[in-house]
Amino acid sequence: MQENELKHGSIFTHAFNFSMIGTAVVDPIGRILKVNPSLSHILGFTENELISLTLRDITFSEDFVKLDDYISQLLLGKISSHQIETRLLHKHNYGIWTLLRISLVQSNEGNPLYLIIQVQNITERKKVEERYFNFIERSSEAMIIISNRKIQYINETGLKFLNISEKEEIIGKSVIDFIHPDKRNISVNYINRVEAGETIYRIEEIFGRVDGKFINVEFTAFPVYNGEKNDMHVIMKDISEKKKTEQFLLNSEKLNVAGQLAAGIAHEVRNPLTAIKGFLQIMDRESIGSKMYFDVLLSEVNRIELVLTELLLLSKPQNTKHKFINLESIIEQVISLMSTQAILHNIEIKKEINTDTCMISCDENQLKQVFINFIKNSIEAMPNGGPIYIKVFKRDNDSILIHIIDRGSGIPAEILKRIWEPFFTTKEKGTGLGMMICNNIIENHNGKLQISSSPNGTTIGIILPLNK
Ligand SMILES: Nc1ncnc2c1ncn2[C@@H]1O[C@H](COP(=O)(O)OP(=O)(O)OP(=O)(O)O)[C@@H](O)[C@H]1O
Ligand SMILES: [Mg+2]
Repeated sequence: MQENELKHGSIFTHAFNFSMIGTAVVDPIGRILKVNPSLSHILGFTENELISLTLRDITFSEDFVKLDDYISQLLLGKISSHQIETRLLHKHNYGIWTLLRISLVQSNEGNPLYLIIQVQNITERKKVEERYFNFIERSSEAMIIISNRKIQYINETGLKFLNISEKEEIIGKSVIDFIHPDKRNISVNYINRVEAGETIYRIEEIFGRVDGKFINVEFTAFPVYNGEKNDMHVIMKDISEKKKTEQFLLNSEKLNVAGQLAAGIAHEVRNPLTAIKGFLQIMDRESIGSKMYFDVLLSEVNRIELVLTELLLLSKPQNTKHKFINLESIIEQVISLMSTQAILHNIEIKKEINTDTCMISCDENQLKQVFINFIKNSIEAMPNGGPIYIKVFKRDNDSILIHIIDRGSGIPAEILKRIWEPFFTTKEKGTGLGMMICNNIIENHNGKLQISSSPNGTTIGIILPLNK
């Protein structure tokens, strides 16, 4: 009895009719010969309606080429059975995402007889996938999946992060190739740890790009088992801005404390100093004691007074007085002010004005302070003497560029990074405030500072708005 049923195929007919998977028997040129109720349920057509149609009629037009290509390959015997994700067309003219499995039934002679097409509705799954995909693609954090050290997936932010324009340039490539040589060892170390099953949670690191840019990042990396071994999923966030703000706050805090301290000391010392100076002057006038001693004492007291004034300058932002001033005259005054010190160090300061307009709006004393600080640094950088050039150019219609050039030993990169920090100094007697004060003053003048340095010397660029 059972054998008989098998022979007549009634069990198979039963299975066909009650299968949860939509199934169609199609001839080699795509005409639909037989369908089951599941398929007509998925597509919204009755079984009879479907039988008068072709495969092309029920495929979403954009997807047909791909489907047709698979079928051709199948018919040519290049592949035996295949599974693709494609959209079919519902009776009401909308696309349904399906997983299609196509297999070929051949005659004993090997001629193609039928195509058996099995259809699973995956619209819901696709919707969920799409939703997550959008989330991930549009995330402000870089997301990367690494499998066997190769980049398997990267989102838009990830591409920007690595400064790469197209996904094709990176998918399938070795991740190490996209990391700066200096950072490869540590990266491999992280990859090994994650592949071994460890999760790295919100660690701060410096990421090095192949193009030489280093970025402060916070990253999380976790293992995801792929059936063979662990893939590494990475979420990375650029925290350079946060770092800068932190550093800035730290510095301004330092400065605040220094300012308060400076103000306190300056006041304490200033009063007794005034008395000492007064008496010295009286004694000098009345010629009590040696003239030479008085000169030395007086000049020392003047020096102390100068230092105190600077300390006070640091402690409170002075009420600035902006005036229209010819920059050239400021430079001339600074040069004559510095000349004694320059000659002492065998240094010549040369001025070169390459513009017809030099009128700027500025606080004269503050700007002089800037020049003095920079020239002082240049003098200190040339212990054996040499030239210092001050060159003024018209940068464009709105701004002026001043170069202060020395032929000193230059500033090594690791020092250059830190010179704007308050109290950063490489000199025994330096305060490390010079550069920072200059920066503050120029910023208050809506200007900008640039610096370039090589072992042959340093050039400071000051950009200031012109006043027309
Ligand atoms: N023209 C320059 N050539 C070489 N190094 C420089 C030059 N200008 C600045 N520097 C470096 O930058 C550091 C910081 O300079 P900054 O003017 O802020 O402080 P300082 O000169 O050390 O101390 P101060 O200005 O209080 O005397 C210096 O110690 C020096 O190492
Ligand atoms: Mg200095």
